[in-house]
Amino acid sequence: MNIQSIVVAGAGTMGSSMAQIFAKYHDRVVIYNHREVTLQKAQERIEENVQTLMQAGELTQREAEHLLGALSYTTEWNCFSSCDLVVENLAEDLPIKQAFYEKISSLVREDTIIATNTSGLSINTLAKSVQGANRFIGMHWFNPPHLIPLIEIIKGDQTDDAVAQAIYQLSVTINKKPVIVNRDVAGFAANRLQFAVLREALDLVQKGVISKEGIDDVMKYGLGFRYACLGPLEVSDFGGLDTFYHISSYLMKDLCDSKEVPELMKQHYEAGEYGVKTGAGFYDYSGDRAQQATKERDEKFLKLYHALYE
Ligand SMILES: NC(=O)c1ccc[n+]([C@@H]2O[C@H](COP(=O)([O-])OP(=O)(O)OC[C@H]3O[C@@H](n4cnc5c(N)ncnc54)[C@H](O)[C@@H]3O)[C@@H](O)[C@H]2O)c1
Repeated sequence: MNIQSIVVAGAGTMGSSMAQIFAKYHDRVVIYNHREVTLQKAQERIEENVQTLMQAGELTQREAEHLLGALSYTTEWNCFSSCDLVVENLAEDLPIKQAFYEKISSLVREDTIIATNTSGLSINTLAKSVQGANRFIGMHWFNPPHLIPLIEIIKGDQTDDAVAQAIYQLSVTINKKPVIVNRDVAGFAANRLQFAVLREALDLVQKGVISKEGIDDVMKYGLGFRYACLGPLEVSDFGGLDTFYHISSYLMKDLCDSKEVPELMKQHYEAGEYGVKTGAGFYDYSGDRAQQATKERDEKFLKLYHALYE
């Protein structure tokens, strides 16, 4: 399964960024969106990003020309008829995705691989709308896609191994770190870990055991710092499994095991405080703070990426 020609469906935050990455390494990358205005915005965003990358020395003039030349933008369905891979990045809404898969199933070739970047919808449920569910798979990227190396590859019950291998190889080709998740479970692997940590963190803050700044520092300067280099199983091996066994014997029963949305999150949600995008969340992002926080975040991610992987 040689993937040469790619259609990225959905030109929003994830789709446009992902297309930009594919186009660095491939000659034919089409961005499809049902609205022309979204495509125009995506094109502007990509061209700005390419300029920024060139100024930062991350992209040569030649690479930039290849990238921009490899990309095309369309609202026409006929782009699906000749591609090797479709990566769907439409809004996280089951009926929208289902209608899309039903439509493209009759347009793509029989051997075209169809992947979804869904954050959490079931791969098996989505597969029911795809003709030929054996060529359907989850390809879950992380935001911001140009800075986070990981891609989770999630196999549905009917996904062919060869399809998973093709997406794995593609991810390696575009300089990402792919990990295969063998079964379609809610949250796949990364979000299960992320929300297990978040549940405990919010429980401790709610109980007044530690401040919100304190819990974020515990992660940034301790656990997270370590996790950038070692996974939790490796950390346990270095810590000593005897020690970790003894800690487990008294600590597991004391950890938060609530099945509900954490209370603190609910309060912010109900107040319309969604975080950076609304100017308030657990922290204040009013004025230019949101922009500043995003800039600082991206600069740190980039430094970390260079330090560890280049
Ligand atoms: N943003 C993230 O942090 C993130 C991370 C990983 C995965 N994802 C997943 O990636 C996918 C896209 O997310 P996003 O953040 O880019 O969203 P977004 O809202 O920025 O983009 C969604 C795109 O879907 C298009 N769209 C909406 N309704 C449509 C319809 N009826 N028909 C055709 N196109 C339609 C929109 O025009 C837009 O281009 C979602 O499944 C999301 O869960 C998002």
